[in-house]
Amino acid sequence: MTVMATEPLADIPVGHYIDGRWTDDEATMPVENPATGAVIAQVADAHAGTGVAALDAAVAAQSDWAATDPRRRSDLLMAVFRLLHERAERFATLITLEMGKPYAEALSEVAYGAEFLRWFAEEGVRGGGKYFRAPTGDRRILVTRQAVGPVFAITPWNFPLAMVTRKIAPALAAGCTVVLKPAPQTPLTALEFMRVLHDAGVPAGVVNCLTTSNAAEVSTPVITDERLRKLTFTGSTTVGRLLLAQASRRVLRTSMELGGNAPFVVLESADLDKAVSGAVAAKMRNTGQACVSANRFLVHESLAAAFAQRLAAQLAGLPVGDGMRPGTQVGPLIDRAAVDRVAGLVADAVDRGARLLPGAEIPQSTGYFVAPAVLTEVDPAARVLREEIFGPIAPITAFTTTDEALAAANATEAGLIGYVYGENLGETMLFAEGMQTGMVGVNTGVVSDAAAPFGGVKASGIGREGGSEGLEEYLETKYIGVAF
Ligand code: SIN
Repeated sequence: MTVMATEPLADIPVGHYIDGRWTDDEATMPVENPATGAVIAQVADAHAGTGVAALDAAVAAQSDWAATDPRRRSDLLMAVFRLLHERAERFATLITLEMGKPYAEALSEVAYGAEFLRWFAEEGVRGGGKYFRAPTGDRRILVTRQAVGPVFAITPWNFPLAMVTRKIAPALAAGCTVVLKPAPQTPLTALEFMRVLHDAGVPAGVVNCLTTSNAAEVSTPVITDERLRKLTFTGSTTVGRLLLAQASRRVLRTSMELGGNAPFVVLESADLDKAVSGAVAAKMRNTGQACVSANRFLVHESLAAAFAQRLAAQLAGLPVGDGMRPGTQVGPLIDRAAVDRVAGLVADAVDRGARLLPGAEIPQSTGYFVAPAVLTEVDPAARVLREEIFGPIAPITAFTTTDEALAAANATEAGLIGYVYGENLGETMLFAEGMQTGMVGVNTGVVSDAAAPFGGVKASGIGREGGSEGLEEYLETKYIGVAF
């Protein structure tokens, strides 16, 4: 196997995993630790031919995998689930080293990511279907479901393991084979996950993984190849639109989990303590680098000042630093460009009159740190309210009426998730129903769950991941009309 000895982890796979074998590429690309800026590994950097070779392997394995008993596929997914738990510390270390999130949070990601394997191992054996007499009486209508076929999965860097398992587990449960392209910033976790699949006995070719810095060069020949049946992507709306344009030419099945601009609404009836602790969770998970991160805080005018003060105090008290250092609760952003982008959003808001409340201390470091902080008196035209921040900044605006808050919450092309806090059950639930989003957190700042359908409406995407809906994304409905 192609490996590289890197402290504190030795034996990290750094080649592509294709047809059950590890392969090198002539070119390599560096992987950085965002807490220090240091290069921690060099991995293979694929070119166009690598993507097609991976698809060849997935296509060759497709019919045998689809024909494998659902129980056998389920047992393999459970074996992967158990191995992931056995190797949780190794995965958490890798996630922290290449992505930056604090080690405790990385361990939670391993548990969350593993849960998709268990969930879809259970869902995959529950075959469905229908058999009934047609209204005309001249035939029987038989409705069954079949695996879609080879899938191309493109995953982001913010959850280097969970976004991979959230796609691979349902694909495998449904009988689809996969070509995976993880984000270039976080290839090590995905490659290590290939080793788990291999060790668990998942047959060669069923999952193939290539790493590349040439996303378009490698992806285009795969997406345009007529043997590919499905594209699943998690990432920005901008890239999602480009991929959808390519996929439309092939009329390809797609699942798109794209950007958000989540409103976090605190109604007049809210319990302030609960709202502040939910706000910290919804804002600070992953240092704000999640599509479901609270992006805009809309707070009833009677609570706005106290909410801002308490949230600012909580954020200012969070220890920021290297995620491998014990006690760290906030890690770095993914790279220098992310730091510059967030700084630009804050500067734009301040230029338009916003007040930046004192934030957390950031370490003297070569890493990519941003101080968690609250912005108040934010002009409605400020970019920080319109763009996905992907960082630890919490802009707060006050509202007077609930109708005004709902209109502001929905005034975005994004529709992934919204949060609403309120103790008046009727008003709070009506608000949740009125939010134009695929998901709502009511009196909670975290909704992610392998058993629940994750996904957005409007420009936030197409399809759902997790829940029973997540399996449907990898199944085609087939109708067989039977006359006798
Ligand atoms: C995401 O940021 O896309 C995923 C967040 C989650 O699964 O909770």
